[in-house]
Amino acid sequence: MDIDIVASPPTGVEADVLAFPVPDPVVLPPSGQEIDRLVEGRLAHLIEDGELKGSRGRLTLLHSDGRLQAHRVAAAGVGERDETDADSLRTAAAAVARRASEIGARTVAWVLEENGLPVGASDQARAVVDGIALGPYYAGRWKTKADDDEERTRELERLILCGPGAEAVAEEARRANVIARWTNRCRDLVNAPANELTPARLTEWAEATASELPSARFESIGGDEIREAGMGALAAVGQGSTNPPQLMTIRYEPEGARKEFVLGLIGKAITFDAGGLSLKPADKLDEMKSDMGGGAAVLAATAAIAELGIPLRVLTVVPASENMPGGRAFRPGDIITSLSGKTIEVTNTDAEGRLILADALWHARQNGATHLVDLATLTGAMVVAMGDFYAGVFGNDAAWVEDVRAAGEAVGDHVWPWPLHETYRRHLHSTFADMKNSSEHRQGAPIYAARFLQEFVGEGPWAHLDIAGTAYLERGRGDYYSTPGATGYGVRLLTELAQRLTQ
Ligand code: BES
Ligand code: ZN
Ligand code: ZN
Repeated sequence: MDIDIVASPPTGVEADVLAFPVPDPVVLPPSGQEIDRLVEGRLAHLIEDGELKGSRGRLTLLHSDGRLQAHRVAAAGVGERDETDADSLRTAAAAVARRASEIGARTVAWVLEENGLPVGASDQARAVVDGIALGPYYAGRWKTKADDDEERTRELERLILCGPGAEAVAEEARRANVIARWTNRCRDLVNAPANELTPARLTEWAEATASELPSARFESIGGDEIREAGMGALAAVGQGSTNPPQLMTIRYEPEGARKEFVLGLIGKAITFDAGGLSLKPADKLDEMKSDMGGGAAVLAATAAIAELGIPLRVLTVVPASENMPGGRAFRPGDIITSLSGKTIEVTNTDAEGRLILADALWHARQNGATHLVDLATLTGAMVVAMGDFYAGVFGNDAAWVEDVRAAGEAVGDHVWPWPLHETYRRHLHSTFADMKNSSEHRQGAPIYAARFLQEFVGEGPWAHLDIAGTAYLERGRGDYYSTPGATGYGVRLLTELAQRLTQ
């Protein structure tokens, strides 16, 4: 999707759909009043008759019949004026984009203006770009024919931002568009089935992607090289599958970046989590193709950071593996030696994410990352606790956790802080090894998992995001993510974090 900025009055903008936000109760913004004058009071009639409403996500579309340069006018509801936030605008813009796409429209213009909404101009622009780019995302690319009741939605060709404030936010809007495009590429990866997206295929994607990025170097090791490198935990998880595990590393070292700061981005990429010999039940097992959502997010975010030329060193590490049962699979009771040298008794092979992350976190620290963030679809209990809207964040450094939280909250990847405390360490105690990978207690599972990871982060700040509930939706969320499947959670957050670290 291209973005154009137009300074002329919205009434003169050529587009398939000209959209503007309306609050509930409806008040037409200045441009809406001007549009209404040109369409001879039809908007006012619809308001009087109660047909044009401002509730969140509600859309009213009418033809301009040649009275405007745009073919159609769309009033997009954002809900109560005082409660309007960037998410309301994302939802409103997504509703416009989805409808536009369904009726075959390719160009949408959106009026940004002093409309009294409590969202600043640049946040409005970013939110509208998010909504327009993420809203019509189509997850059915394996269908040979779209369902009858489901017109195939398509990305729009062009978004035109217009209105008095548009030029001032042009750059922000263009950057948001780059980030949204990588967010959708992340969704493509997460939605891809495990028979297509094996660890090797993900590695190929990452290598091809990195080769196009400025100042980025890609490396990977796979199969036996992983055990030879001392990554006993990643090797153990991967040994049960005929598709060998991989470890990808991308170094982004742009000119002008400070040398003493290296952002380490680590993402869990289990391309299919059957649970291993601690086999999961059949119910919803298909969703475990999405257990690589953390890895996909850090790869796509690295691409966005490099494409935007953000002057910050980044070291991205993605351990990729399947977690399968079978004759070669690792067993409950096995004792493995991680890259750090610490030994782990495997009490549950389904707690595999923390194992592959143990080696990846240590590897990132050994290779110079000064500040770590890991993203992982780590625990089912996080889904139970926080549902589909907030990810939980944990860490060993309050200021760093706050940086991560604030970056996510600013861009729509919502984050809620969770505690860590030494008292939880006792749940890792093993009779035989330095620790065990899973506690027999069900309470506090996301915290135990985070506490396990903490053993492998070395010295320096680290934050862990458990994105099990937010990376992949069982059902639409009723906002700009209106369909089930991958969200691309984390791409916006990490790119924003990197940007903020340069300021
Ligand atoms: N990939 C799962 C976590 C998960 C579950 C993500 C549901 C998204 C939706 C993870 O590897 C796992 O199986 N965790 C176990 C840990 C337990 C064995 C300590 C869990 O949460 O049940
Ligand atoms: Zn698992
Ligand atoms: Zn898993």
